[in-house]
Amino acid sequence: MSGHGTPLPMTSHRADPLTGIAEVPGDKSISHRSLILGALAVGETKISGLLEGEDVLDTAKAMQAMGAEVTNHGSGTWSVHGVGVGGLAEPDQVIDCGNSGTGVRLIMGVMATSPITVTFTGDTSLNKRPMARVTDPISLFGAQSVGRSGGRLPMTIVGAADPTPVVYTVPVPSAQVKSAVLLAGLNAPGKTVVIEKEATRDHSERMLAGFGAEITVEDTDEGRVITLTGQPELKPQTIAVPRDPSSAAFPVCAALITPGSDVLVPGIGLNSTRAGLFYTLQDMGADLTFENMREEGGEPVADLRARYSPDMRGIDVPPERAASMIDEYPVLSVVASFATGKTMMTGVKELRVKESDRIDAMARGLRANGLMVEEGDDWWSVSGLGPDGVPGGGTCESFLDHRIAMSFMVMGMGAQKPVTVDDGTPIATSFPIFTSLMTGLGARFETTE
Ligand code: S3P
Repeated sequence: MSGHGTPLPMTSHRADPLTGIAEVPGDKSISHRSLILGALAVGETKISGLLEGEDVLDTAKAMQAMGAEVTNHGSGTWSVHGVGVGGLAEPDQVIDCGNSGTGVRLIMGVMATSPITVTFTGDTSLNKRPMARVTDPISLFGAQSVGRSGGRLPMTIVGAADPTPVVYTVPVPSAQVKSAVLLAGLNAPGKTVVIEKEATRDHSERMLAGFGAEITVEDTDEGRVITLTGQPELKPQTIAVPRDPSSAAFPVCAALITPGSDVLVPGIGLNSTRAGLFYTLQDMGADLTFENMREEGGEPVADLRARYSPDMRGIDVPPERAASMIDEYPVLSVVASFATGKTMMTGVKELRVKESDRIDAMARGLRANGLMVEEGDDWWSVSGLGPDGVPGGGTCESFLDHRIAMSFMVMGMGAQKPVTVDDGTPIATSFPIFTSLMTGLGARFETTE
């Protein structure tokens, strides 16, 4: 459920030492893109390890509603029979993307250069989030949009019948916006150029190349310049979705703050546009090592080994690292609570427009558990209370945000008193096996139905 059902309060008690192997599910970003690019290829794309979280399932339904044949073969194995670039059909119902900003923004991009009209909606969280960051660039291709005030969903987009390619500099560090423009560029004749000043996750570029599109990426003084040639014939692929580093963050961070822990999280991608949290934890003095380093599907992969780390210290997190760990600041702030000294996080304005305002949501919950938090528009800091110094005992609102809910469940594992989250249902959007995986390692969660 993503805010449509009855709230499910959850309490996290001090955990037993965490031990064992944490096999986290498939990467959310790559799962969305596998379905969308599969829907645009000519022929059948086979996907294994797809994340079967609600966000991704909503994207699967959307692709089906737009003419692709999407089949679930069980155990994370799916196939998508694509319709070809430019072949998407107009859906006869509203497309509901649930809680997923990635889903809605990528699908808006992909339909913007086809002569179809699509109405999008989402849950209460998604319908508050800014969409102008996508409707602005797609209007340059010739698409039109009408939504609620402030560019919010529900929103109808009329795709361009005669699209023109664009040159676009992304004004905010956002892989969703970059990807929406690239996906729109797929059905525009000629070259679409996207320039990003700060590098964000590059899965779209890598996967477009994998599907046979002509795409180049150049690092220049102005930033990263990505050039895509439109109207390719995309070739179906066989994709093994790697495990999600953003989900790996939860068992890793839990092990660092829970006395006696030693956890292995195998097969995690260390793509430099995603792995910022792990380097930040190492900078804080965490006992976190990368074992069995290897290459899989052209990406660096390692098994992460995280052990209890009572000697962590607060640091200034380099702002240039923000894009590579943007989803991990909530759980980092929990680790920072158990470190000695202050952790300062700057250049993180984007956190205010995620599934919730993540600075505000974490600040409230951390304060409710005895922490001192300071914040400004694009920064915040947490003053750590040391390895055994976090009082806990608070109740935190999750604000329909999976990562807020999971972060506070992790906090309860090392705090003196239990930590309660008012609603754990959003966890199913990205990490449906979170509770069983964490309790399997030694967590003590209690659910009040
Ligand atoms: C994502 C990009 C990021 C991230 C989100 C997934 C993606 O969002 O927060 O969870 O798959 O492209 P922004 O583009 O808003 O930074």
